[in-house]
Amino acid sequence: MARPLFQALPGTRDLLSPDTDRMRALVEVFADEAENAGFGQIVPPMFEDLGVFTRIGESTDIVTKELYDFEDNGGRRIALRPEFTASVCRAYVQNRPLPPWKAWYAGPAFRQERAQKGRYRQFDQVGAEVIGSHDPDLDTELIALAARFYTRIGLTDVTLLINTLGDAAERPGYLEALKSYFAEHRSELSEQSRATLEINPLRVLDSKRPEDATLIAGAPMLIDHVSNDAGASYRRVLDGLRDLDIAFTEAPRLVRGLDYYTRTTFEFASNALDAAQNAVGGGGRYDGLVADLGGPDDPGVGFSLGVDRTLLACDAEGVFPAAPSTADVFVVVTTTGTEALVLASDLRREGWRVERAYDGRSMKAQMKAANKSGAPVAVIVGEDEAAADTVTVRPMDGDGDQVTIPRNELTKQLKDLLS
Ligand code: HAM
Repeated sequence: MARPLFQALPGTRDLLSPDTDRMRALVEVFADEAENAGFGQIVPPMFEDLGVFTRIGESTDIVTKELYDFEDNGGRRIALRPEFTASVCRAYVQNRPLPPWKAWYAGPAFRQERAQKGRYRQFDQVGAEVIGSHDPDLDTELIALAARFYTRIGLTDVTLLINTLGDAAERPGYLEALKSYFAEHRSELSEQSRATLEINPLRVLDSKRPEDATLIAGAPMLIDHVSNDAGASYRRVLDGLRDLDIAFTEAPRLVRGLDYYTRTTFEFASNALDAAQNAVGGGGRYDGLVADLGGPDDPGVGFSLGVDRTLLACDAEGVFPAAPSTADVFVVVTTTGTEALVLASDLRREGWRVERAYDGRSMKAQMKAANKSGAPVAVIVGEDEAAADTVTVRPMDGDGDQVTIPRNELTKQLKDLLS
């Protein structure tokens, strides 16, 4: 077959049914869990003033390399959202909901990444944020929300990695320690990490290059540099997780790819996926972001889960299968009138899922289509039935005989057969 004139761009995909049914089902489970925990939905715009996203961090790839930004007709600098957290904070500053404000979301995000399996340029996230409270119980509750979501969709092989990044005031001291450690071992670092060291020493810890691994494993740890207050808050989160029986692994050098994090930071890694793309979600506190966006000095905490990767993890674990929705009834009509149109429409109005054949196909072809559709019942109208205002009902599973009944008894008959 000739190549189509247009194809979806690299890093983007068409999702078709039943994959779309599965994705919607996943979002519904997330929405249900989030709303049980007191979160209301936010639908922020997919694009914002570029400045909203540059606040995520001037030294993160997400901002420097991966933003889709452009100038609109009014000369504004605009960017497609690479994530939701900055938009949620902007919305908090603009709409001033009462703190603590608990919001959940679902939708696409856009990053110009090198496209590969599990790494897309348009991908979907679900997530939850709480703005306006320092209470570390919220950090625990958010992690518990994600954990309940994973449990409900059936994922079991997910590891929770957790760390604290302390507060902004403690950061310079830690960065100094990190800088002098890496400077001492500069020649052993990968070329990329040597460049990163100049811009943001913290991000060197995020390097996934094998040649950096040993050095990173020996680097100074943040936990040794955080204040008593941040340390106590971190211990409270870990105690909470233990009390909720949520397993975790402390990862003292986990920094994650965004600059706004303070205090608790965490990541969910699927052990069923390749190591390079095994992060199915992540989050943490961002106590300075609202103020950076021109708002009050209100703290925030949240997480986002990658929907596409979570579904890949479900595939790898063989859970949360796509359940194609089959029709209840297949309408087979061999008259030349509008009987199929009217019958299908009447039944759909009653709430039945109805499929039918088109293009005036033969009885045999329609029965074949009915069989293929998986619908448990066929309702047949030929010239005789049309004249007598009857329908023939045929169970498709071979159990039970077909019967011809008055049209006005069809609903009862379907209820008997299908409930
Ligand atoms: P993130 O770690 O950048 O955090 O993204 C969260 C999740 O989105 C990742 O763990 C991954 O599953 C998925 N993801 C990210 N990039 C891609 C991609 N190119 N293709 C497929 N999936 C991807 C955030 O976005 C933060 N906003 C999380 C957060 C919320 N922190 C506090 N509140």
